[in-house]
Amino acid sequence: MQQVSIEPGPSPAVRVTPAATQAAAVRAAAARTRPVAVTGIRASGRAHLGNFFGMIRPALALAASHDTCYFIADAHALTTVRDGAALRRNTLQIAATWLALGLDPRRMTLYRQSDLPEVFQLAWVLACYTGKGLLNRAHAYKAAVAANRAAGRPDDQGINSGVFAYPVLMAADILLLAAEVVPVGLDQRQHVEIAREIGASFNAVHGPVLTLPDPLIDRRVATIPGLDGRKMSKSHGNVVPVFAEPDELRTLVGRIVTDSRPADTPKDPERCNLFALYRHLAQPAAVTAMRARYLGGGVAYREVKEELIGLLEAAFGPARVAYRALMADPAELERLLAAGAERASERAAPVIDRVRAAVGLAG
Ligand code: TRP
Repeated sequence: MQQVSIEPGPSPAVRVTPAATQAAAVRAAAARTRPVAVTGIRASGRAHLGNFFGMIRPALALAASHDTCYFIADAHALTTVRDGAALRRNTLQIAATWLALGLDPRRMTLYRQSDLPEVFQLAWVLACYTGKGLLNRAHAYKAAVAANRAAGRPDDQGINSGVFAYPVLMAADILLLAAEVVPVGLDQRQHVEIAREIGASFNAVHGPVLTLPDPLIDRRVATIPGLDGRKMSKSHGNVVPVFAEPDELRTLVGRIVTDSRPADTPKDPERCNLFALYRHLAQPAAVTAMRARYLGGGVAYREVKEELIGLLEAAFGPARVAYRALMADPAELERLLAAGAERASERAAPVIDRVRAAVGLAG
């Protein structure tokens, strides 16, 4: 597999609730295993630079210290997707994206959520240990209700029960694999906390059956600006897709908004979203030099954009080729996903057995 040539950036992932995580890490070391990291990647659209720097790269870097189990959350996508063929295609695209960007299937486990039927079994059991009020407070459901109210519609109009139960399915993903850490963006932090709370409710009845996870948040997520300077996000229409073709890349970089200061005018690099993108891609020495040129009035934005295009091509060009090759061989992708599902279900088996035994379902 191609490895992207960018090193993990300067600020390491920040651990939330470090004491608990450290304790888990110490327990894992004592058992001579590495802590387990689990995360789900929703099957939606093309990955962009914000996804890459905020989520994909830190998640790949975690493989150095953790047993990583990453999955494509196709069942979660059912809250909105109604086209089966599109969902299947998108699932393979996401798998190919991660593999092309350096996910090594020999060292890391990549699987498709729906290949693990134990997830759905556990989700039902957990639903019966989840206070309805806890789900009423989940951000995504609350936001959907708030949007209805703002439009003068009944609270729950057009909201399916999958949206409401979404955090329970997510708790099943996490608890089934006995995850110790869950690398996520800030927007998913509450979901991981809910998973922990659901696990704790179960353990309060049955003893320490489920491992309680901690979110692992990379603080740089919010700092990836889009073309217009707002956070890079599909909903803002300001993204640079990781696998954009060279022509598209050139057009998009050309659209990055800057002020109109000419080359010989000193500029503040900290207030320039072009520089903010540049610093994520260039080597540290180049960033230092570029900062000096900004401050000294020695660079035109046009030149920075040219450099940025070169850096993007160098960083993602080879991975784009690997992506195309993977997408041309869906049978091989299916084979990789099946192998990943086999490994994940080995991990899941003792957990689901313990849960079924504890609650009194058939053993
Ligand atoms: N809800 C997550 C998202 O929208 C995807 C997801 C599903 C997930 N299951 C998970 C993330 C389990 C972490 C752990 O991005």
